[in-house]
Order: sequence, then structure tokens, then C-alpha cells
Amino acid sequence: MKSILNQSRQRLDHVRAIRRELHRHPEIGVDLPRTKALVLRELNRLGLDVRENVGGGIVADLHGPDEASGGMIALRADMDALPVQEETGLDFASQILGQAHVCGHDAHTAMLLGAAALLTDLRDRLPTGVRFLFQPNEENQPGGAKFMVEAGCLDGVSEVYGLHVWPGRPTGWFGTRPGPLMARPDVFGVTLRGKGGHASAPHQCVDPVLAACHLVTQLNTIVSRRVPPGERAVLSVTRLDAGTGYNIIPDMAFLQGTVRTLSASTGDMIEGAMRAMTDAVAAGMGVQADFDYLRGFPVVVNDSAAAAKAARVLGEMSEMVEGNIDPVMAGEDFSQYQQKVPGCFVFMGCGPCAADGRGGLHSSCFCLDEDCLPWGVTALAALALDRG
Ligand code: NI
Repeated sequence: MKSILNQSRQRLDHVRAIRRELHRHPEIGVDLPRTKALVLRELNRLGLDVRENVGGGIVADLHGPDEASGGMIALRADMDALPVQEETGLDFASQILGQAHVCGHDAHTAMLLGAAALLTDLRDRLPTGVRFLFQPNEENQPGGAKFMVEAGCLDGVSEVYGLHVWPGRPTGWFGTRPGPLMARPDVFGVTLRGKGGHASAPHQCVDPVLAACHLVTQLNTIVSRRVPPGERAVLSVTRLDAGTGYNIIPDMAFLQGTVRTLSASTGDMIEGAMRAMTDAVAAGMGVQADFDYLRGFPVVVNDSAAAAKAARVLGEMSEMVEGNIDPVMAGEDFSQYQQKVPGCFVFMGCGPCAADGRGGLHSSCFCLDEDCLPWGVTALAALALDRG
């Protein structure tokens, strides 16, 4: 494994150049023409069996023995950036106003292309075929993975793996766990309609601001009072809009937020409790409530055998591998692949955050240590080279 790591290091210049090219030209959502053109250019150069549009993503196969009977191993990268104005000051910083690769998907795409090149060289050692999945729109619900899966991107696949860079952990560190790793990220919005009027005459109005304040407080009791103490859940009200002036009681108040859970049953229980509480507060305060709830990506649940394989394979190349890390409450649509075939999602260290905590994922000054790139290339290649 160390020799593969050395080969990956020799390819660092190319992988880094790809990453920087993507970083300069970030694209968002499903509309990734420039990014896809680069991916296709690199894949076609390798002579892989490439399909340009499978549910909006790019799929490339490197054929190997035994793939018809045993199934292929799929490796996935996401390609999309975020609507954030980059503030890193890097000389390859985003050239597009208000868009930046601050979740490391540029690195994910570059590393998977690096792994495709490395595995093409090592194809004689492959136990089975390898499928490379390049996915758009990870950052927005309902995500790009769902449509790729529906279009058959996992047909003939028996295992799937993916990586995410993880700031705050050193280069060479890998972490994963069997079972739930990342949360179901649900979204809710509540509109409260009252009756506006003069702030000096509240008795002639129905005040949606006071109702919204009560509701925010009530909703915050659900996780502490209704969810069993051993279980993880987050409910955050993140937005509260109402009113236009100090002397006007408004007609409406709007609140929005997210619920994060590691099991569908807890997520569904919280949704039900929120709905009941919203109705009760609305009835008590005399406002009318519209409650919207969108269930997010499924929970990322790592298959125990795939997680054990990942920990073992990565442990052969690094001494900094943790096979049973704490789950995190962010979401990932890698879970859509895991609904179909067993798989494992892995975090990989990409260097420290700033001391003040800035520089994490989705931050305008997110940076990664590019020395992590060969580690990611090697990790992906090693997962494909090991049949378990
Ligand atoms: Ni991400």
C-alpha cells in the first residue's frame, strides 16, 4: 500500500492542477458544464468506458475480471460548489463572484480522477471492475445522487465508497464508523398569519410575532423532552422574519430551520411533534399556521462489512485511522447509493482549521492542505484493489 501511496505522490502535480482548475471555476447545482468537460477530458484520456449523462452525472467503467459475477466496486465524487464568496486570498481562488468550492468537492473530483488514472495503470491487479461516479448537486435537496441511482448508475455494482475531506484533522487521518455516520437533514418552514394593525392597539390585532416567539421556544423543547437521552437529534430554528416598523403589528411571521436525526423513526417523531405543537400554539394564539416539512437525504448508514474493510484497507496505509468515530449531524446524499448497495463513507483529514475555528467546511475561508490529495487518491484506489 505504501508503494501505491508513493505512486500517488508522483501524480500529485497533475491531481493538484486539476483541483486548482476546478477551484478557479466553481459551478453550482446541476449546471456544471465546465466541470463536466474537464472530467470527460480526463476520463477519455484514460480510455475508460464513459457514459456522459447517467441521471445528470458522469459514469466511467474500468473493466476487470469477475465483474459480471461478483459485481463492480463503485467510487463516488461530488462536483458542485456553493454560493459563497471566497475569502482565502489564494492565488487560485474562485474567479466567479459569489461561488466557491468551500466544501472540497473540487478535491473529491480531482482525487477520483487521480484514482482512475492510478487504477488504469494497475488494472492487472484489479479483483473486479471499477465504476467511477461523478455526481452533480450534492449541496441541494433532493441531491444529484437520487437521479443517478434511478438512472441505473449502480446496476452491476456490489459495493460503493466515497470520501469527504475533513478540516481540523491532519493529512493522513481517516475516520469512519459502521452504522449511522451522517444525519438526515430535514428542512421546515412555518408561516403564521395573524391580523396586523397599530402597535398601540394590540387588542385589535392578532400578533404573529408573539406567536412565532412562543413557537420557537416550544419547538426547542422537543429534542430535550421527547427524544430519548441516548439518541442524537438537533432542531435549529435558523430564520425568523416578521414586521416592517416599530409601530406596526405585522400580518405574518415566517420561521425556518432544520432537523437532524440519525434514524428515520426519530426524524418522523420530531416532525409529528412539531406539527402538533404548531397547531396548538396557533390555536392558543389565534393565528393561522401553515407548516411545511421536507424530509432530507436519508441517513448515511455505513454497512458494517464495508466499514470494516475501509478501516482495514486504510489502516494498511496510515497509522491515523479511526474506525469508530462519532457520527456528525451534517447530511450527505451518498446515502442514496447506500439505499441500493452496501457501502461506506469515509472522512479524510485535510489539515487544521484556523485557531478561531474559521476555515471549516462551507466557510468563506475554507482551505485544504493539498498534501492530502495523494492520500485520497491512494485510499480510493486501495478500496477498489481490495475485494475483502
Ligand atoms: Ni461536501
